Amino acid sequence: MINLIFYLSGELEEVATKEVENFVKYVLNGKVIDRDRQILICKVSNIHSLERLALIHEVSLHLFSGDFDNLDCLFDLLERIEIPNDKMCVRVKNIGGKRVKSQELEKNLGAILWRRGARISVSNPDKILRVYVSERFHLGWLLYKTNKKQFLERRPDLKPFFRPGAILPRLARGLVNITAIKDGTILDPMCGTGTIIIEAGLIGLDFIGIEIFEKIAKGCKMNLKHYNLPTNVIIGDAREMPLKDESVDAIVTDFPYLRSSKTFGEIEELYTKSFEEFSRVLSKDGRVVFISNIDVEELFSPLFKMESKFYQKVHKSLVRRIYVCKKRRK
Ligand SMILES: C[S@@+](CC[C@H](N)C(=O)[O-])C[C@H]1O[C@@H](n2cnc3c(N)ncnc32)[C@H](O)[C@@H]1O
Repeated sequence: MINLIFYLSGELEEVATKEVENFVKYVLNGKVIDRDRQILICKVSNIHSLERLALIHEVSLHLFSGDFDNLDCLFDLLERIEIPNDKMCVRVKNIGGKRVKSQELEKNLGAILWRRGARISVSNPDKILRVYVSERFHLGWLLYKTNKKQFLERRPDLKPFFRPGAILPRLARGLVNITAIKDGTILDPMCGTGTIIIEAGLIGLDFIGIEIFEKIAKGCKMNLKHYNLPTNVIIGDAREMPLKDESVDAIVTDFPYLRSSKTFGEIEELYTKSFEEFSRVLSKDGRVVFISNIDVEELFSPLFKMESKFYQKVHKSLVRRIYVCKKRRK
């Protein structure tokens, strides 16, 4: 078994935690063994598919964690770790909690390695020894950094077909990962411009999008084509889907937002009927991860068990609820 350090994005820390927890459990057959704010330490049996993850900054191979009142053990450890042949350097990252003078610590730790014969290169290292400084410190070899630029390049307004109100690709990818499906088919029954299904398709999952308005469904197909993905979009109604029972492995969607209390009856009907359909088309033990701007526990609880609920404040009058639910067994 190998221990990994996942350094989570601070923006949606709890959602990021869930993304990593489920990824580690279902994809890497491992578990979280320690947490220190934005740092999760996980024991895994193998390492692959890290590029699927969205809400993390980076992953390192864990060597050691310790308290600040015993910084000596960090220096002792550097006297003992195996020195690689590659050019290397030490990089210290303050990420909340305790703080250290990062440059000074990098210099002092680098000096130990240099004395022991390491080839130090600060400007162009092949290997980076990371010290994450949180409530405690965590030491590890940097293995993987998330390509955050790709998510910015897929921003909704940069896609061929744009409609305001689409969620950001990085969050969409995180929600797809929270469903914990390794392979199989993911459904977005209210797919809009396709942000969710595009992120699912780009990590190799099969997907289906359903959208009630023809014009939007056509636009969604344009967006899918732009990323060389199959145009699996059906013009249809989430309340009555043309799909077989238990034919999809997970559902991720973003409900239309309730904008005025006058339309509550309409939106309540959309939720109630859609949840019935979600339960019908979803495979046993499948998850539904959805976004709503209202509390809807009462509407789904006969059919789904809530595993988690997160809040994302978008602006003063919009707080997104992110629900993670599992289909109830009959
Ligand atoms: C909040 S938007 C989804 C945005 C989407 N995530 C995106 O990336 O563009 C909700 C979408 O649901 C669609 N919609 C509303 N009622 C629907 C229904 N009964 N069945 C299917 N789609 C519906 C709307 O047209 C809209 O495109």
